[in-house]
Amino acid sequence: MNALLSLAHNAPKAELHLHIEGSFEPELMFEIAQRNGVKLPFSSVEEIRAAYDFANLQEFLDIYYQGMSVLLHEQDFYDLTMAYLRRAHNDNVIHTEIFFDPQGHTERGVAFADAIGGIARALDDGRKNMGISSRLIMCFLRHLSEDDAHATLEEAKPFLPLIDGVGLDSSELGHPPAKFKNVFAKARDLGLHLVAHAGEEGPPAYVWEALDILKVQRIDHGNRALEDEKLVKRLADEGMCLTVCPLSNLKLCVIDNMRNHPIPAMLAAGLKPCVNADDPSYFGGYVNDNFTALIDALPLTRADIEALLRNSFDGSFMSDSEKAAALTKLDAYLAGV
Ligand code: ADE
Ligand code: ZN
Repeated sequence: MNALLSLAHNAPKAELHLHIEGSFEPELMFEIAQRNGVKLPFSSVEEIRAAYDFANLQEFLDIYYQGMSVLLHEQDFYDLTMAYLRRAHNDNVIHTEIFFDPQGHTERGVAFADAIGGIARALDDGRKNMGISSRLIMCFLRHLSEDDAHATLEEAKPFLPLIDGVGLDSSELGHPPAKFKNVFAKARDLGLHLVAHAGEEGPPAYVWEALDILKVQRIDHGNRALEDEKLVKRLADEGMCLTVCPLSNLKLCVIDNMRNHPIPAMLAAGLKPCVNADDPSYFGGYVNDNFTALIDALPLTRADIEALLRNSFDGSFMSDSEKAAALTKLDAYLAGV
């Protein structure tokens, strides 16, 4: 194997942009659909995979919400999360910060407690049995109203000890961050971390709003920030982490070819991207597959790979001592290869 590939694959790393519902592999989807007596509009795993051909974010989201609709019980959410943790462990992920979309479940009549309960129980087992530390980020669906997001935050209150932050996902165009100003302020008052998808399909103005109006601590994606020089300077000056998702960008036609991925330009501009899978079951792979796609297509150096790995810990919501320990682990690994 190419030396850079094996360096990236074997390195301890953090994953900061992973929708747990987007890690739902078709095999498990069929298994859970069967045990819940839910009928999927596909007759085989091959047929499902063949449907994963998207021209844009919305085409993906339509099928993503359909896929998650077979999740009904606490055990379903546990199995989903545990399956992801096994794949992450295999990719040497030692810390993960995962998103979940409660509104995608509660609007179907699933109890908030069952969704978060199954996810949190699996994260706890992942820590005990695989040594993976984690944080849980509750996303608001931006195609729904801010009132709906407020109601979701209220519903989350009994579970706040399990929730580390809030995020903003779903259809970006037409749903600017400013729409969620008040609910993000409320989340901030509750002591939650704040992140938002911005600049995936949306313009640089949405990234500005995420920073200035939502006051986020990380930008999820951020690709289109590169179109605005002043914004690039702002992000660089603040050392803002960008949770970038290469295979997602390719599958959702945010880029036309991996050779045109903006990660080299981001690094050259002094930004802090890290590499993530987003929705691995829909986009063709987990975090190490994303490193493979980048390294195969782009003239990245060892220093670039090291920076991407460091950024994954630097940009995380680990405590200072956890972060220092993870970075020491990464440095020890890098010193030996
Ligand atoms: N929900 C799941 N994946 C997403 C993405 N890449 N962008 C916006 N919303 C999402
Ligand atoms: Zn995402």
